[in-house]
Order: sequence, then C-alpha cells, then structure tokens
Amino acid sequence: MITLGIESSCDETGLALYQMGRGLLSHALHTQIAMHSEYGGVVPELASRDHVLRITPLIRKVLHDANITFDRINAIAYTQGPGLGGALLVGASVANSLAYALGVPTIGIHHLEGHLLSPLLSDPAPDFPFVALLVSGGHTQLMRVDGVGRYELLGETVDDAAGEAFDKSAKLLGLSYPGGAALSTLATTGRPGMYKLPRPMLHSGNLDFSFSGLKTAVLTLVRQSELNEQTRADIAYATQEAIIDVLANKARAALAQTGLTQLVVAGGVGANQILRERLTHDIEKRGGRVFYPDLEFCTDNGAMIAFAGALRLAEREGLKNYRFNVKPRWNLQEITLT
Ligand code: KG4
Ligand code: ZN
Repeated sequence: MITLGIESSCDETGLALYQMGRGLLSHALHTQIAMHSEYGGVVPELASRDHVLRITPLIRKVLHDANITFDRINAIAYTQGPGLGGALLVGASVANSLAYALGVPTIGIHHLEGHLLSPLLSDPAPDFPFVALLVSGGHTQLMRVDGVGRYELLGETVDDAAGEAFDKSAKLLGLSYPGGAALSTLATTGRPGMYKLPRPMLHSGNLDFSFSGLKTAVLTLVRQSELNEQTRADIAYATQEAIIDVLANKARAALAQTGLTQLVVAGGVGANQILRERLTHDIEKRGGRVFYPDLEFCTDNGAMIAFAGALRLAEREGLKNYRFNVKPRWNLQEITLT
C-alpha cells in the first residue's frame, strides 16, 4: 500500500511516498522562503502560484527517486487545512484530479495531525500515549496524544505562536523572514544576562501561553538600545531564552499534569537546538524522555502528510468521489475520534 502525500498549506511544497510496512520511499520539498523574504512575510497569491509551478515536477521526482511509476500509487493524502485557502486548493485539486485519473482514493489530512505524528517517522519513535508540544509558525499547543485521531488539547497560546514570536523579534533585529533560525544563529554570540525579558503566563497555573507581550518588550529594547552587532546578539539571546524558558516549563508541567513520561516536540520551532537541549536536560532529569522528528521533518514537509494519510487509511476508507473542499481554519479537536 503506497500513499502519495502532498503538503501545500503555506510556503512549502512537499511531496512524499510512504509504503505501509516499508516506510518512507522518497520525499522532496521546495521552499518558497527566498521568494517571500523580499516581502517580509508570506504573500498568499504568490504562494499559490508557486505551488502550481512546483507540484508536478516534485511528484515526478518522488516517483523517480522511489523508482516506481504512477500505477503503483494506491492512495493520495493531501493537506486539507488549516492554512492559506489558495495554497491548500492547489494541493487538494492536484490530489483529487490525479487520484481520479488513477482510480485511487484520496484522504484530506489536518496539517497539525501531520506534525503531531511526524516523530513516529523517526527512530527511536515514541509509543502512545505521549504529550506533544506543537510549536510552529502558526500554532503553539500542548496536546495529549493517545493514538491516531485521539488528541486532547491541554493548553495553547492565547495570542501569538512561539514561531511568530521568533519571527517578529527577528524582524525587529533586522533579520529576514522567517527569522527563527537566523535569530537562533545570532544568539550564539549573545551574552547571557545582558537583558531580561518577560516570561508571559509562566506562572498562570494552566498550560496556556502568551507571546505578544514579549514582542512588545523586544520592540522597546530595540528602540532603547544602541544597536550594534553585539547588542543585537545579546537581545537575540535574551529573546530565545525567554521563549524557550516558557516552552520548557509548560512542557514539563504538562507531563506532570498528565502523569505521562514521553514528550514529543513537533513543528518548525522544534528545530531549535537550544530548545532541544533544554527540554532533554529538564525532562530526562525527571525520568522522562523527549522525542524529536528528524530536523527535515520538523518544518513543513510532504512525508508527515503521506505518513498520517497511510495511518488514517489503515483505519478507514479514503474517498473516491473526488469532491473536495479545503479548511483554512480547522480545529484539531474536530478530527478527534470519540
Ligand atoms: O512548522 P513550520 O515549518 O510551519 C508552520 O506550520 O508554521 O514552522 C515554521 C516556524 C517559523 O516561525 C520559523 O521561524 C520557525 O518555525 N523555526 C525556528 C527554527 N527553525 C524554524 N524557530 C526557532 N529556531 C529554529 N531553529
Ligand atoms: Zn507546519
């Protein structure tokens, strides 16, 4: 059973082939970051047009790399939401028209479910149940995951996502979009203790987050400081510390609250090396274990969609009516099995 996965929810066109029992056969990605960085953020219309250009060559590439032909594809999984409407429509329409031509079923996948399950692609992989810290450009959530489709929201951001906090702070420091990784690189030359930034909701007593105040504090700091290479690095250091401190504390509290011992970190911010070190240190010290997707599967990719599609198809039939819609706003709770 071979599933083709298509991810096109934002600024990455990701394709992959996953075979049940064998694993990932191939995957390919085109990132639009360079195109959007000129504008300081994702331009939805440009994103859609670029997906249109990239998607067919990437389908051919994953087939070529896996050394198989179109007729070996048994099902097509695509990101149905959440994300940019136009960008999602490109993936959904290609998935459904190709599936129609091949006579195979399609399945729409929730983007965050893809992120949540992506650590299972790595070795070692966690067992169910686990707590997932989902930290991407658009989301910051702590979820309890008891199985495929069994997700319980434990806490989430009330305003900006952690990735957004990285990106907005990076922009204030003159770094180009998306900025999270660049801010992290700049922070390597920053000095500890030079600036103290707020840790919003650290002691809120629940598992929710808030990052918009941090962005304002960084803005004030940037305005008040004499900016040079060293002070920029110092501010980057303090910003990263503040974000990571909150994420690590809440993740630890989520394990304590649920009584679970395994933490899975997913989403683009999960690529942050300092976050990884801090979580591993804090949680292993308490007898827990932290799992990360491989770096290339932390940010958006087709592999997580092919994989989530394959797992879902093992449980239920895909659709063969080739009618489709996309869900730019889609709550993960809606796909939770009861
Ligand atoms: O999961 P993702 O690729 O896309 C969304 O679904 O949003 O996450 C992208 C986010 C961006 O905010 C980016 O700045 C952030 O992940 N990011 C990082 C790092 N690499 C990517 N943030 C901090 N440190 C990194 N190394
Ligand atoms: Zn994502």
